[in-house]
Amino acid sequence: MRITKSFAETRLVASGSVGLVPTMGFLHEGHLSLIEMARESSDTVVMSLFVNPLQFDREDDLARYPRDVERDVELAAAAGADIVFAPDVDETYPQEQLARVNVTELSDELEGPNRPGHFEGVATVVAKLLAGIQPDQSFFGRKDAQQLAIIRRMAVDLSFPGTIVGGPIVREGDGLALSSRNIFLSAEKRRAALALSRGLGVAADLVEAGEADGEVIGAVVLGEIDAEPLLEVEYVTLASQDLVQPLAALDRPAFLALAAWAGKTRLIDNVHFDAVEGGFVADRGRRLEDASVLYATGEG
Ligand code: PAF
Repeated sequence: MRITKSFAETRLVASGSVGLVPTMGFLHEGHLSLIEMARESSDTVVMSLFVNPLQFDREDDLARYPRDVERDVELAAAAGADIVFAPDVDETYPQEQLARVNVTELSDELEGPNRPGHFEGVATVVAKLLAGIQPDQSFFGRKDAQQLAIIRRMAVDLSFPGTIVGGPIVREGDGLALSSRNIFLSAEKRRAALALSRGLGVAADLVEAGEADGEVIGAVVLGEIDAEPLLEVEYVTLASQDLVQPLAALDRPAFLALAAWAGKTRLIDNVHFDAVEGGFVADRGRRLEDASVLYATGEG
């Protein structure tokens, strides 16, 4: 396992086919499952670890973002990473970043209006990672559904040669989608947050029973969230998987996405609806059997 600090060193050390897993660290099983996917199909697995200031729309959110590089390196190595590329801000942004990547249309809805500049920051840093590391495949989680769509579109529109691969959402045993931010939830807010995955689960059941009306599908999720006084919903939207445009009816591959606040912690979650012959199948993600590594203290 090597830790690299520059793009050039990373390219030099990597050999054969390269699988890249971009992260901002404070790893959980969602990241680890992407490293494992990359391991299966790549000669060299590179995990990048960089808390990208360009994609934070709030200073306090950037300052509060959890960091523990030593822990991340250990977890990444155990999951099968060969290289952890951990650049500092000067390697990633050696001068003022005037060239920015904007994937129009796909950034306009859902997270877009709620997090100004966020997707520009994400697309810009991912473009730099793709250009600087030149991976054959790059792996991103379906949890950030809009981000995945934006990166897929950017890679095609800007002719990046590698493949973008999406991995399923990993959930804690009780359904809560894994996020590095889950560590900020008090026991009370964490319990309230279960309404999110519960609502999405009911919506998934409805879809698999044949319901296609976007309003009906969204309403069951809103109902679950509204019943929780500790949650404040930002949006629940059925959107197309390719262009991330709101849909009145489920008539193409889509995802039902939501964002909600539990106190000061903003949570997102979704369920993807993939087309199968004669209908849609819900990708509810995978549930952990044991407690997440997020909560391991490292003491015994
Ligand atoms: O999903 C994330 O953790 C980040 O947005 C990414 C893709 C690593 C870019 O900073």
